[in-house]
Amino acid sequence: MNDGMVLVTGGAGYIGSHMVLALLEAGHEVVVLDNFANSSPVALERVARLAGRAPRCVEGDIRDRPLLDRLFHEHAIADVLHFAGLKAVGESVANPLAYYEHNVGGTVTLCQAMAAAGVKRVVFSSSATVYGEVAEMPLHEGLPAGTPSNPYGRSKLMVEQVLTDLAASDDEWSVALLRYFNPVGAHPSGEIGEDPLGIPNNLVPFITQVAVGRRERLQVFGDDYPTRDGTGVRDYIHVQDLVHGHLAALEVLRERRGVGVWNLGTGRGYSVLEVVEAFERASGRRIPYTIAPRRPGDVAECWTDPSRARQELGWAAELGIARMMADAWRWQQRNPNGYRNM
Ligand code: NAD
Ligand code: UFG
Repeated sequence: MNDGMVLVTGGAGYIGSHMVLALLEAGHEVVVLDNFANSSPVALERVARLAGRAPRCVEGDIRDRPLLDRLFHEHAIADVLHFAGLKAVGESVANPLAYYEHNVGGTVTLCQAMAAAGVKRVVFSSSATVYGEVAEMPLHEGLPAGTPSNPYGRSKLMVEQVLTDLAASDDEWSVALLRYFNPVGAHPSGEIGEDPLGIPNNLVPFITQVAVGRRERLQVFGDDYPTRDGTGVRDYIHVQDLVHGHLAALEVLRERRGVGVWNLGTGRGYSVLEVVEAFERASGRRIPYTIAPRRPGDVAECWTDPSRARQELGWAAELGIARMMADAWRWQQRNPNGYRNM
């Protein structure tokens, strides 16, 4: 299995840190590249403690070509799991150039360095947002890419196109485009988890911060959607399931060339109010909320048809909403201020 190291860009981040732990536990040698723009080195210290061994860590930027060249020269890297990037939808509207620079430009630079080093296997963190607004659920990979409603989403779609063109130009490339639905939850140890800077954009970190007393109440963005209870429906997926989907994709990529597109979700949607209820049940805490206007750019519903991932990757999500909420709560309760309170 270990025919080389795995480079994890953005490996100190929320999903990346869980990925690094899973890779170490599966016996891989790992090198992390992260500029800590949206993460803490403490996450990697905890990963090392949980795994009983440490990944190599390089502090730096995917836009830094000389650094990447050195990295590939110094480490026998066989695969790249590419998580690094900016991900705040609202910020991408205010500062689109940063999003195109980090997400698109950074990926181009990374691929140039990979090509120069002869490393041509990459798993990319894409998003269900690339489907744009689709009336009929579930979303499946046979649907054409749509028009994402913001620069963040468009940067994800652009990277998918860059990687697809690259693989078409050189048949030695193996590319996985993994379209995540809504990653939530945390490692069951409660030692690593999601630690957003400032006011959380996403539902579950907002709920856990209300539960721990950092925020007064949740705003539910819209209760007049055409859904069961009027609130938005999403396909929440436990981060542990998500990273296992990456391990499965990595195995498959080692046996095939070209581009594979896989949705990673559970196939089941929950409304905002159902998530609140599941959290209250898991934590025993009440989550006060008020109904607020719809958030611009939000769709009513979004969930996946998980068949292709099951058939081609031999992977399916296993953990349900109760586990997602229990693990998110354990992390938040143990780390009320995330990685910053030690
Ligand atoms: P995150 O912000 O926690 O992790 C991203 C990591 O990349 C951070 O550690 C950050 O410091 C690092 N980084 C950012 N720009 C960099 C650069 N130029 N060079 C080096 N490192 C850089 O985010 P996450 O939730 O773990 O998401 C990981 C990936 O998955 C991202 O590409 C994101 O767009 C994608 N994704 C996330 C979600 C989600 O809801 N969390 C959904 C779909 C897709
Ligand atoms: N929501 C609230 N209150 C909040 C936060 C969210 O009611 O404080 C609602 C949203 O309106 C939505 C649901 O909770 O109905 C989920 O919202 P999130 O922000 O957690 O997730 P999104 O589905 O909006 O966003 C996700 C990813 C983005 C991606 C987007 C596009 O986090 O990276 O999907 O599909 F771009």
